[in-house]
Amino acid sequence: MKFRQRTGSRILLLADILLLMLLFFGHRQQEDTARQTVAEIDAKTPPEVKKIALTFDDGPNMKYTVPLLEGLRKREVKATFFLLGQEVTEHPEIAKKIAQDGHMIGNHSYYHEDLRKMASDEALMQVSRTNEVIYEVTGQYPQLLRPPFGKSPQDIVFEPPMVEVLWTIDSRDWELSDVGTIMQNVLPEAKENAIILMHDASASSVQAALAIVDELKEKGYSFVTLDEILFD
Ligand code: NI
Repeated sequence: MKFRQRTGSRILLLADILLLMLLFFGHRQQEDTARQTVAEIDAKTPPEVKKIALTFDDGPNMKYTVPLLEGLRKREVKATFFLLGQEVTEHPEIAKKIAQDGHMIGNHSYYHEDLRKMASDEALMQVSRTNEVIYEVTGQYPQLLRPPFGKSPQDIVFEPPMVEVLWTIDSRDWELSDVGTIMQNVLPEAKENAIILMHDASASSVQAALAIVDELKEKGYSFVTLDEILFD
């Protein structure tokens, strides 16, 4: 009886030691995994960087695109420009400058007409003609399409395929001339991966855009081209 009891407690003791060992090594392994994961995350995306994108429609504009480009260059900021085929044909040198500065270029159709209100072959023509003109002038073949008025054309298959991109923050700059109001439409809405809609078509837009860049940079935002928001 005594012998049995002793054997029993020895077995218990062994089991305890095994359990402790398991717990100890298991814990160490967990810690290692946790450390590794944190290190991996740190390497990929530093937590303080929040990406945000500025987009400008309807250009290139004869009067306002160049001052905007200068302001963006000074601030080392890249944006995305949705160009109209017609305007690129009229101001190829400005379109070229946009591309040379490292901004991304998208397609905003040829004449800025509602693509939904025309036959699909006409809509297709407006988009593909714009792609051709942009490619000839800038060497960039647009992959992004922002249809005028945000109204996507129906039943159209683009070849090569195009990615349609609208926006998440509307500055309403096209109908405003007050810089402060344009800024107020954007700043409270700012968040990571937001897409801001603006137009390089007036002095107040350009001024507001650059002020928005300054404000949001202070808050830890990094301005990126749309591909970095959409495909990363
Ligand atoms: Ni537009």
